[in-house]
Order: sequence, then C-alpha cells, then structure tokens
Amino acid sequence: KILILDFGSQYTQLIGRRVRELNTYSEIVPFNKIPEDIDSYKAVILSGSPNSVRGDDVLHPDLSKIRGHKPLLAVCYGAQYLAHFSGGEVAPSNTREYGRANLSYIKKNEDFLSNISFDSQVWMSHSDTIKQLPENGVLLASTNDVENAAYKIEGEPTFALQFHPEVYHSTDGKKLLENFLVKIAGVKQDWTPNAFVEETVEGLKTKLGDDKVVLGLSGGVDSSVAAMLLHKAIGKNLYCIFVNNGLLRKNEFQDVLDQYEGMGLNVKGVDASARFLDALAGKSDPEEKRKTIGRVFIEVFDDEANEIKDVKWLAQGTIYPDVIESVSATGGPSATIKSHHNVGGLPDFMKLKIVEPLKMLFKDEVRRVGASMNMYSQLLGRHPFPGPGLAIRILGDLTAEKVRILQEVDAIFINGLREWDLYNKVWQAGAILLPVNSVGVMGDERTYEKCVALRAVESTDGMTADWVNLPYEFLQKVSNDIINKVKGVNRVVYDISSKPPATIEWE
Ligand code: XMP
Repeated sequence: KILILDFGSQYTQLIGRRVRELNTYSEIVPFNKIPEDIDSYKAVILSGSPNSVRGDDVLHPDLSKIRGHKPLLAVCYGAQYLAHFSGGEVAPSNTREYGRANLSYIKKNEDFLSNISFDSQVWMSHSDTIKQLPENGVLLASTNDVENAAYKIEGEPTFALQFHPEVYHSTDGKKLLENFLVKIAGVKQDWTPNAFVEETVEGLKTKLGDDKVVLGLSGGVDSSVAAMLLHKAIGKNLYCIFVNNGLLRKNEFQDVLDQYEGMGLNVKGVDASARFLDALAGKSDPEEKRKTIGRVFIEVFDDEANEIKDVKWLAQGTIYPDVIESVSATGGPSATIKSHHNVGGLPDFMKLKIVEPLKMLFKDEVRRVGASMNMYSQLLGRHPFPGPGLAIRILGDLTAEKVRILQEVDAIFINGLREWDLYNKVWQAGAILLPVNSVGVMGDERTYEKCVALRAVESTDGMTADWVNLPYEFLQKVSNDIINKVKGVNRVVYDISSKPPATIEWE
C-alpha cells in the first residue's frame, strides 16, 4: 500500500483515486499523522497545499523515516517543501503558473519518465516557484514558464513534480504515477475490491477484537456496505439499528429489513414513525423539519444504543467525499458527526469510538466493493434518498394522510421506472406533494384535490443536475395510474427545471 500525506490540497483525494485506479491501495493521512507502522507502506506521496513553504503557516512533516528509506513522490507543495528545506530555493513566481502548460524539456533514459510524450500537457496551480533545486537535485522536466517542473534527488528514490499529475488535465499524469509506483516503488498493482474486502476485514478484526459495535443502517448503499464488511469481521458483535422514521418509501422499511436479515445481519428494526410525526406536527419550515428529524433520530438511536450492553464503537458509513476535514483532523469524531452536535452535550452513543471502514472509498468503489461481496444489486444500485425522506417532498406541514398519499404516488412512479427499464438511466427520482388543491372532474363529480409533481434527474454528484427526458408514453401511463389509483390526487405535473438554478428537492 501507498501512503499519501495530505497538506490540504483540494486535489489530494484525486491522488488517492488515481492510485486506486492503478489497482494500488492508498491511504491518505494528514501530513502530521504519519502512521506508526510506516514500514508497511511501499512508497509515500506528498500532496499539494494552499499554504506556502515560505509563510508562517508552513507545514512541517516528519520525513525522518521516509526520506532516503522509501520511494517518495512530492507533488507541488511537496516538491517545494523538499527544495526549500534541503538546500534549494523557493520564491514567489513572477509569471502566471496556473492552468495548462506543456513540457518543453524532458530528460532522456529515466524510468520515471518512460512513455511520457515530450510535449505532454501538465496542469499547474501554484504561486511560488522553485528557483533552485535542492542539494543533489537533478532536473527532469521543464515547461516554457517553469524551469524546475520535475526533478529527482541523486542517490535516493525521491522524485518531485511541480505540476499536478493527479488531475485529468495532466494528460500523462496517470502514466507518471504508474511509473513511480511500478518502476520506482515496485508495487504489484494487485489491489482490487476483493483485496480491499480481505484487507479491511482483517484490519477490523484486529482493531475491534471482541468489542461490540453499533451501526445505524439507512437502507442506502454506504451504510449497507459498511455493515457487510463489519459483519464479515465481527459477526454478531455488530448491532445494526434501522430506524423507520415514517418518512421512507412505501414498504421500504419492511423490504429493506428483510434484505438485511437475508444478508445475515444482526439488525433491529425500530418503528419510530409516530414519534417523528408527532414531533413534526404543525411544522412547515423546511429547515425546522430537517432539524426536528435530526434531533428525533439522535434520541431514538441513543435509546437503542443504550440497550446494547458494553458497546464500545459506533460504526459509520462515511465515504471519502464526506470527510471534509483532513489536515486539521484531530483523530476525533469526523465531520459528519459534528454536524449532528446539539447544544447541551453529546448523546451517549457519540461518546463511543468511531469506526469508518469506507472512509477512504469513493462512491463507485463502494458499489464495486459491495458487488464483490455479492450484495443485492437492487440495494447497491438504489437511487440516493435524502435523510429527512418524504418530509422534504411534502411541501409545508406533514400529516399521516399526506405521507400515505405521497408514498402511493412515489411507488407508482418508481415501480414504473423499473418496469420500463428506466430506473438505472436516472440518477434520482421521486414525487413531490404540493400544497395546492385544484379543480378536476371525475365521472360527473367535481373534485378539488391535491397536485403532485414528478421529478427525475441525471447527475453525477448531485451538485448539478438536469431533468430527464422521460418518454411521453411513460409519463402518460404513470400519470393515469396515479390519478386513478391514489385517492386525493387529481393532477400530475412533471418538473423540467435544471439545477442550478432550481434544486433537486423542492425544500
Ligand atoms: P438539492 O435539493 O440540494 O439536493 O439539489 C442535492 C442532493 O442532496 C439530497 N438532499 C439531502 N440529503 N439530507 C440528506 O441526507 C437532506 O437534508 C437533504 N437535502 C437534499 C437530495 O436528495 C439530492 O440527492
């Protein structure tokens, strides 16, 4: 495995990702948290940083067990750090060193540079420049504006790049990383989802021993895959809690609970629907609804966790993009937990030690890991579903009747997508119950009933999204079914807004 020391660059996680794409396992740790078992890492990569090696906020890693002992690749800040503190010179640059550039010189007969085209495009993003290479530095590549774009240190397996090999716009960047990993560090490129599962399960066994662990399942991909890994490691010592907040999709609580039991998980389903609905009664402000749901969830979860005798750990399905803090991480609870903090002290379960087996994975990797453990493809391919559930799809205040109506509508829409083979072509879909009554006619009767909106979007990360051009025949069929089958609804509209400027959810 490879160790990546993070100095806070926005691209650090991309380094991890690229290394993983090269079938090599990597771990990212803050620059000042070098693991004790550093010997178990084959090579080390230093990331970029928003800080300057010349400023008061210079970040000093302890490289004493690394430099000269292990293959080391220093990127951007890393490259400047090595230069500045080993006899070279770093100064503010007087030309623009952001964005694309092309190599104009590359040293011949270097394993590190093999198969890199001589004018390869590279991506720069730095305001300091390396004026003079460190002691024993050998120039490897330049661009027109940046002379010391790449160098190595004679006599030790240390390489440095001023540009970012991890970004897509550095066209040979991945090749450079591969050269470093394979030709310099001699890694085997044998990291696969299966290998991840084996290694993680072993690691969890050692870490957790006979300890008990509690985990909140949500029905989503991340918590389910995390649970499966822990289950493989500690079996019945994993206590899963799946809370029905009464705001899930129709039948979802029972269906998902059955799936979890089918996977052999030790899971307790807790139906707290009434508690949530009571707490939400009369609340119509979206943020107030969210806060209420968050608070009640913590109360319910805390009650349940307290029932488990001697539980020591709280497991979370945190994945890499959720980990906001990295450099400043103190080893304490992660960012996801902090956002749940409420004034007046921590609930008991938050005093537990945290275990997050997916912390280093990206979403698509989580799915691959889940697939390699033969988890249900329906569970792995499930659309994202917001934590507050249908509460933020019922605009305004909630009642049990409104929840029932929306569950029926949503089920017709989602089942329709599955039947028409459209489900996997859509990133997220759902129905929204509008606080609007409109006039209709059914038979000879005038009706005055609710209107629902259908929403289906394509997206990669939910940050931006566009509505999906669903076939008219499909919309027609679904609309008909909804109006004929769901009492209380007499009108269906389809949302054709993109994000931005609209959002995916209506609240
Ligand atoms: P928006 O509506 O902001 O949604 O475009 C982007 C993505 O985030 C989900 N979402 C939430 N998820 N709690 C969640 O766990 C929330 O309060 C929440 N609000 C929005 C939304 O479903 C979409 O996938």
